[in-house]
Amino acid sequence: MKAIAVLPGKPGSVHLAELAKPSVSDVPNGRGVLVKVLRVGVDGTDREINAAEYGVAPEGYDFLVIGHEGFGQVEAVAPNVSFLRPGDFVVATVRRPGKSLYDAIGLQDMTTDDQYFERGINLRHGYLTEYYIEDQEFVVKIPQGLREVGVLLEPMTVAQKGITQAYEIQRRLKVWRPRKAAVMGAGTLGLLATLVLRLRGLDVTTFGRTRRPYLNADLLEAVGARYVNTAERTISDAASELGPYDLVFEGTGSSAVVFESMQVLGKNGVLVLTSITGGNRKLEVPADRINLEFVLGNKVMVGSVNASRDNFETGVRDMSQAEAEYPGWMRQLLTHPVQGLDGYRELFDRLQNPNGAIKIFCELG
Ligand code: BGC
Ligand code: ZN
Repeated sequence: MKAIAVLPGKPGSVHLAELAKPSVSDVPNGRGVLVKVLRVGVDGTDREINAAEYGVAPEGYDFLVIGHEGFGQVEAVAPNVSFLRPGDFVVATVRRPGKSLYDAIGLQDMTTDDQYFERGINLRHGYLTEYYIEDQEFVVKIPQGLREVGVLLEPMTVAQKGITQAYEIQRRLKVWRPRKAAVMGAGTLGLLATLVLRLRGLDVTTFGRTRRPYLNADLLEAVGARYVNTAERTISDAASELGPYDLVFEGTGSSAVVFESMQVLGKNGVLVLTSITGGNRKLEVPADRINLEFVLGNKVMVGSVNASRDNFETGVRDMSQAEAEYPGWMRQLLTHPVQGLDGYRELFDRLQNPNGAIKIFCELG
């Protein structure tokens, strides 16, 4: 069967590879689930892997099958699979356990190991292929009513984990009642983080670099959030009117915005950082002031990567609530389908030059 792969370490190496079709018996303990891939989303991580910024092939291979935002349908299950059946729609999580204590309790997203295993990213093949096989422990069922948007679940879980972590941390305050949130970045992640915060009833301002007319700005307003274009208004200027914020979710990919976010966070507030900043940028910042305000205001800053099975399950529930509250909204994020694995060049051309695209995805069905 075909798969889209890269040669890690070699920039621009994306190509079609050939793999043997897996079978349920490839997974030990009779818990194997064979999934037929229907759709796979791509994001900046895939672009950076193809640029050879990171990404490692599994042991015994010189290529890495990419794609970590999968959506598929169960084709066969091994005898000990208990909660999935052929025909079910599913999404598999991304990270697989290593050796730390956190991995042992199913929180491999919190691993303290130096090495981590992520399907489609690091040391494990991904989902841009015709079929994959997985232990049921890592496969999450998607309700029928979400089949059109199931491919958004993995990016949704990145927002979900960051926001859940923020709420968990804020239990320190006994009576935390967040009212105002800011989301930095208005791409897929920013849109989904905004959605999650709106579902929790917060007043949300989302910041982005693109001027109107801008589909993403319209989508933000459709869920009752506010869009601020940073080309017209700085973050600090907007925040002096609309902030300070009880919760800030940062996912722009720019470390400069991280330090701006620290400065618009309110007293007792929590700042969630999710940007994977691969560069080596140096900045001059008002360090004394930032530190002073963090100390005097009891503020918290937390990093968040990947997501647990729990975040996938909560993500499914939030997506169901979103369909009920804002019907058809999530579907509008699926702007750029690319047909078939053979379309891999188009997939990457689009990623290189998004031109208004929100979610670019491969349609295999
Ligand atoms: C993925 C996460 C992953 C992270 C770091 C993101 O693009 O969505 O699942 O943990 O990259 O590799
Ligand atoms: Zn991703």
